[in-house]
Amino acid sequence: MDVVHSFSDLRRIRSSLSSPIGLVPTMGFLHEGHLSLVDLARDQNSSVITTIYVNPTQFGPHEDLEAYPRDIPRDLNLLEERGVDLVWIPNNEDMYPPGFQTWVTVDDVTKPLEGNMRPGHFRGVTTIVAKLFIALQPDKAYFGQKDAQQVVVLRRMVKDLNFPIEIVVAPIIREPDGLAMSSRNVYLNTSERQAATVLSKALKTAEEAFADGNHDADQLRGLVSRIITSESLADLQYVSCADMETLDELTGEISSGLLSLAVYFGKTRLIDNILLGV
Ligand code: PAF
Repeated sequence: MDVVHSFSDLRRIRSSLSSPIGLVPTMGFLHEGHLSLVDLARDQNSSVITTIYVNPTQFGPHEDLEAYPRDIPRDLNLLEERGVDLVWIPNNEDMYPPGFQTWVTVDDVTKPLEGNMRPGHFRGVTTIVAKLFIALQPDKAYFGQKDAQQVVVLRRMVKDLNFPIEIVVAPIIREPDGLAMSSRNVYLNTSERQAATVLSKALKTAEEAFADGNHDADQLRGLVSRIITSESLADLQYVSCADMETLDELTGEISSGLLSLAVYFGKTRLIDNILLGV
């Protein structure tokens, strides 16, 4: 497994990789969710590239950029075990050269939900992912369903900018008690960690209600909200039941939808979602 930092080393090694090439972009501190993307990429491609970069422009001024967990030696061991060919750990100076002022923005689908709560977040994501795509030119790129809006936004970007890259989305990987895996779970103290299981419980209850014939978007949102707010350590930011492509909020009877939520436990903000009717 090659590990490179600079653009010049990257170009040299990238040109020796055989196609098709699968890319798994990450911010490091890898867990089984990331590794499931790597495994899928390994199965579907001749070469696999992983990037590790805590992208500063997708963090808001009061978010956890400095505290974001990092452990590059551990990440590299895990990636080597999973058969990755090339790891790129870019430098800030290469990604954002002095005077940087060129951004990739996606409009409507970045406005609600996470975009509403985290202004500027998706501009950072689309800009860095576009830069990774241009530098690496993968055939396929792998993202987790956990960041459901990110998937919608990146699909839109790929379509609009005609990137010849297939976006592959892998299911959410959960802990045995249902909590969706996230690098940020390490911030939770013991009681918050226990309380955080309410997210998957609430979504599962709504999924069961949908399967039993309750297809009313408002009632499903209400059901999830009531379960979350019954947990005293949970501070609910939003519950949404939205169109899976446009992310427009749905009301009344639905045949499908993205049910998603964001909840604080102390200072830790967690997100989770399920797809209904797919
Ligand atoms: O999902 C993530 O970890 C990040 O948003 C990504 C796609 C690596 C861009 O920094």
